[in-house]
Amino acid sequence: LEIAAIVKSEIKVVSVMFVDFLNLKFKNILSYGKNETVIDFTSGLNQIVGMNGQGKSSILDALSFCLFGQTYRKIKLDELINRKNKKNLLTEVTFVANGDEYRIVRGLKPKVLKVYKNTVEQDELPSTAKTQIEIDNILGIDFALFKEVICLAINYNEPFLILPKNKKRDLVENIFQIGIVSKILAEIKNRQKGVEVDHKLNKSSFLSAESGIESTKKYIHQLETLEENFDKNQERNLKEIQAEIDLCEAQILNCTNGRNKGEELLSTLILAGKDTLINDKAKASAKISEYQNSINKNNRDIALLDDNSTCPHCQSEIDEDHKLKHKEEFEVNNITFGCEIEILKTLIVKLSSDINTETDKENKKRKIETRLLQIDSDLKHNTEKLKSAQDRYKTIGKDKFDTDIESFRKDFSLKEQERDNLKEINTDLLKKIEINTKSIEVLSDNGIKSYLYKKFLPNLNAKINEYINLFALPVSLKFDDMMVESIENMINRKPISYMSFSAGEQKRIDLSIMFSFIQIMKDIANWRCNILFLDEVLDSSTDNDGLQKILESLQNLIYSNPSLCIYVISHRLHSKDLFAKKLRIEKENGFSTVRTDI
Ligand SMILES: Nc1ncnc2c1ncn2[C@@H]1O[C@H](COP(=O)(O)OP(=O)(O)OP(=O)(O)O)[C@@H](O)[C@H]1O
Ligand SMILES: [Mg+2]
Repeated sequence: LEIAAIVKSEIKVVSVMFVDFLNLKFKNILSYGKNETVIDFTSGLNQIVGMNGQGKSSILDALSFCLFGQTYRKIKLDELINRKNKKNLLTEVTFVANGDEYRIVRGLKPKVLKVYKNTVEQDELPSTAKTQIEIDNILGIDFALFKEVICLAINYNEPFLILPKNKKRDLVENIFQIGIVSKILAEIKNRQKGVEVDHKLNKSSFLSAESGIESTKKYIHQLETLEENFDKNQERNLKEIQAEIDLCEAQILNCTNGRNKGEELLSTLILAGKDTLINDKAKASAKISEYQNSINKNNRDIALLDDNSTCPHCQSEIDEDHKLKHKEEFEVNNITFGCEIEILKTLIVKLSSDINTETDKENKKRKIETRLLQIDSDLKHNTEKLKSAQDRYKTIGKDKFDTDIESFRKDFSLKEQERDNLKEINTDLLKKIEINTKSIEVLSDNGIKSYLYKKFLPNLNAKINEYINLFALPVSLKFDDMMVESIENMINRKPISYMSFSAGEQKRIDLSIMFSFIQIMKDIANWRCNILFLDEVLDSSTDNDGLQKILESLQNLIYSNPSLCIYVISHRLHSKDLFAKKLRIEKENGFSTVRTDI
């Protein structure tokens, strides 16, 4: 199926291909000038005659250039343009292939390449190379095959037998139309490379998908643990904060009660005016001192009265009565003063006690006030603490685990899907690789090709030997399936190498091979075309006998295929009877002209 698909999509296989060339037109190519030369291909044996350098072989270059963009004789393309006119080289070939009429127009200066199918110009392909592949497909042959089955120019063509082995094989593969096998093989090998690269890429994508899945899995697990811990932490934190709140509230209550009590106590504490008491006490002390002084003075006066006979006040002589009177007076006063002192002392004791009581009250009040201040500060502190705890409780209560684990889970399942897809693709790719490997095995030289070679080779060998026989060469030629030839002398069966044959004999072998190819193309590959050009084949190194044999075989070709147009290019003029038509090439004013003489 794979091979069939490739054949269908990539390679155009034409099962039956008839290519009928109708005409060739050209101008400004080599020795031909601006006047268009037209060669209408006519069936039968045609001769193209002319002296050296008149422009005979140029016709092959025109045909080859038009069909394949290459000259038959490996002339450089810029040397192909007519030297005098230097531009407007134009060639045109019209042919019918498998029922459709095609026209290929190719030119230089300006560069032209157009393909018409049934007069409709075909879309231009992106490159000349692509267009050429398309043209090769239409024709069913490529340039290499063209040189083997349409044109044979002894002086320019490398004889088939001296081509390198791989070229020989390629050519024969194309002649047997098993070149397709190589094309498919190359295509499959190419695809295999692509598939192998895809497989490698797929494998590395698969591995990275696997590791991606693994790390996402681990990450999700971590997130789940984090979420669980988050919830636990939140619960624990809220409990702790609640405890804090409760404590604060209790302390606030304590404070309020304390404050009330303190205020109540304060209200009961009435101060009596300690300063007045102190003042009274000081006054009483002063009064005591005053009385004591008076007593002392009285005692001093009494002593004076006792010791003196004159009055210390009036300096008058004092009598005893007077003395007694005054002493009495003084002593009564002293008693009075003594009483007063005692009263005052009692008062001072009372005042001292009152002062102490007031001091105690003051101290108590100060203590209560300090305590109240302390309570106020505690209250403030606890109120603030409560607010902050309540705020925190709210904030933490609102707190949510903010990582969207679900999106990671989705991502995980997407990655799993992707991995499964990659696995499926991997299975497909492995299957493709296996199919390709098998196909490569089947299509390789030892597989189907070898089978086809073995099937077709005897046919080719038989045909070649038929022609060799016809050309009266006493040898037999046999190709093995690697396209290595062995030529044997028919008489003694001794091997002879191609190079040891004379030029004329080599030409007969070359022609035998060419004619066989044409035959095989027709019989096996179902490909044939209506033109055949032989340049110089009948000239140098061909004796009359050889010439005769070749002409006979050409005649035979025409008998078996009446529509065949054979063009024999030669300087020799051959018998008119043999040729249907004769084209004479002559140069006039430096330009070649084709004349038709029947
Ligand atoms: N670019 C060119 N412009 C003009 N003439 C050219 C150009 N290139 C080659 N020629 C000439 O064209 C002529 C035709 O050559 P051609 O090979 O076709 O001759 P011929 O008839 O096949 O001769 P022969 O019998 O010797 O093979 C030659 O004289 C060659 O010098
Ligand atoms: Mg020539």
